Amino acid sequence: MIREVLRMGDPRLWQRSQEVKEFGTPQLYALLADMRDTMAHLNGAGLAAPQIAVGLRVVIFGVHANPRYPDVEDVPDTVLINPVLTPLGEEKEEGWEGCLSVPGMRGWVPRYTRLRYRGFDALGTPFEREVSGFHARVVQHEVDHLDGMLYPMRIRDMTKFGFNEALFPGQELPQED
Ligand code: NI
Repeated sequence: MIREVLRMGDPRLWQRSQEVKEFGTPQLYALLADMRDTMAHLNGAGLAAPQIAVGLRVVIFGVHANPRYPDVEDVPDTVLINPVLTPLGEEKEEGWEGCLSVPGMRGWVPRYTRLRYRGFDALGTPFEREVSGFHARVVQHEVDHLDGMLYPMRIRDMTKFGFNEALFPGQELPQED
C-alpha cells in the first residue's frame, strides 16, 4: 500500500527510531511492502520507515543505471534493518542530495567516502558490506533518518541548498531519497 511520506517539519522525523526485535513476521513484511510501494510510486532511491511514520530502524534503497543520469552509480536493492555504520577512514566528499521528505529541493552534503555497514535482512540474517561513493552516500542518508536527522542539518554551505528549478534550471534530476 502506498503510504503518505512525512515532510520536514513533522516532529516524527526528528525522533530516534527503535530497534526491530522480531524478524520474519507478517508485520515486518507488511511494512517492507508498504515501503517498497511508496518508494516505487515516488520513484525514490531510498526510504526509511520513519518517513512513513513507523518508528523502527528499517531502511530500503536501490538505484539502477539510467542512461539519462550517467553519473549515478548502481546500488543494489537492499533491505537493511538495525544498521550499524563504521566509516573507513576520515575522508568525506560532498555531493547533491534530495529527500522525499524535503520534496523539490537539493542540498550539497558532506558524507564519508568509504564505510562498512552491518545489519539484518527481513529474516534476521546478518550481513555486512564495504561500500564507497554513491552507495555509501545513500546508506548514510537513510540511516540518518533513523536518528532523526535530515540532510539539510548536514549542509555546510547554505548557498548550496535550494529548489531544484532554481539550482538546476531546465534539468531533469535523478531520484530523491
Ligand atoms: Ni531522505
